[in-house]
Amino acid sequence: EQLDALYRRVIMDHYKKPRNKGVLPDGNVTIDMNNPTCGDRIRLTMKEKDGIIEDVKFEGEGCSISMASASMMTQLIKGKDINTALKLSRIFSLMVQGKDYDDEQLDLGDIEALHGVSKFPARIKCATLAWKAMEKGLLSTNE
Ligand code: FES
Ligand code: FES
Repeated sequence: EQLDALYRRVIMDHYKKPRNKGVLPDGNVTIDMNNPTCGDRIRLTMKEKDGIIEDVKFEGEGCSISMASASMMTQLIKGKDINTALKLSRIFSLMVQGKDYDDEQLDLGDIEALHGVSKFPARIKCATLAWKAMEKGLLSTNE
């Protein structure tokens, strides 16, 4: 119960004070993605150099879960290499589906606050919207 309250506070904090909000003027990866079931959308811009995500920002319109998750995601992947970012995305996806996951000794930052989403299957797409956008953007840099 107390943990739930803490998690709710973390989620609302990211929703009300989003980290890395905006558009990167010098980004070299831009991805637009939406959740077709509700129309909520996100635009992610990243500055990727030599396999490192040097900077990342997001903007969009969506529910508290989707926007808080985007904020947490940008905070977590900034400065990371592409493989680590993709690994974190896999971990997060398992977490919000309520499946077992191995944190692989990575710092998960605030994203654990969203593990309760697994109890609300309709919300899983909200939580993963920003992550799917990030994956799509990074995979496109490998082409
Ligand atoms: Fe409540 Fe989206 S409507 S989190
Ligand atoms: Fe649209 Fe959550 S209700 S992303």
